[in-house]
Amino acid sequence: MVLAARREELLKELARELEGRGAQALAVRCDITQAADVERLAREAEAHFGAVDVLINNAGIGLFGPVEALSEEQLRQVFELNFFALVRVTQAVLPLLRKRPGGQIVNVSSVLGHRGLPLLGGYCAAKAAVNALTESLRAELAAEGLSVLLVSPGFTETEFRQTRLHAQGWQQNAPPLKQMSAEEVAAAMVKASRRHRRDTVLTLPGRLMVLANRLVPGLFDVAARRMLHRMAKRPEP
Ligand SMILES: NC(=O)c1ccc[n+]([C@@H]2O[C@H](COP(=O)([O-])OP(=O)(O)OC[C@H]3O[C@@H](n4cnc5c(N)ncnc54)[C@H](OP(=O)(O)O)[C@@H]3O)[C@@H](O)[C@H]2O)c1
Repeated sequence: MVLAARREELLKELARELEGRGAQALAVRCDITQAADVERLAREAEAHFGAVDVLINNAGIGLFGPVEALSEEQLRQVFELNFFALVRVTQAVLPLLRKRPGGQIVNVSSVLGHRGLPLLGGYCAAKAAVNALTESLRAELAAEGLSVLLVSPGFTETEFRQTRLHAQGWQQNAPPLKQMSAEEVAAAMVKASRRHRRDTVLTLPGRLMVLANRLVPGLFDVAARRMLHRMAKRPEP
């Protein structure tokens, strides 16, 4: 396994844990918004393992606030990590995926990539871009025997809500939904990967949301507006 993120100490700790379980793990400090870091990541992966079997594009960041209040800088930051960095890593790793048959790319989107919700427009738009790109890439690579999967987690207990960006003065109270653990999401991703499942939407509310949006989009607008506005803390007047 090649583990890539910015916090090297955590990566090394995880690599040690994985090696204790018999895996070969390489920790590479890498900011995927930086082209030079991503090139080095691909070089190190190739030097250690020769090829890549599965690429998991997981890094992402949230953004909360009404579209009207989102700064261009925040929107660019969200697209930079969720979308552009995903493309950058995919392009850098594709030659390594082609070195062995049956390579796979797993793009981590969100249930919010399937439907724009009020106060989450910037994040929803970035994940919707990931969804569209995933479909294009899947069709482009199919003839080479490479598969491209989309996994869309729902509400998950991670550091996501601590790192999320907020429009000036806006905050979100914790939604009254049951969260999946990161381990449960990881297990679902492994299952999707083994079964080559092209599209995996996680959590019951997530699946219901995708379905309700398809069947009764107008009604879903009203329900989403009520729910999101109840959870929002607005800027002081
Ligand atoms: N949590 C949820 O409720 C939820 C729901 C739906 C979808 N998702 C999606 O699930 C994915 C994982 O999110 P999470 O919930 O695990 O969030 P998280 O706890 O904030 O984790 C984000 C991960 O991305 C890494 N990362 C962030 N910026 C990076 C950068 N510039 N370069 C390299 N690595 C970077 C972080 O490591 P470093 O900080 O060390 O770099 C961390 O490992 C994201 O795509 C997110 O959009 C999350």
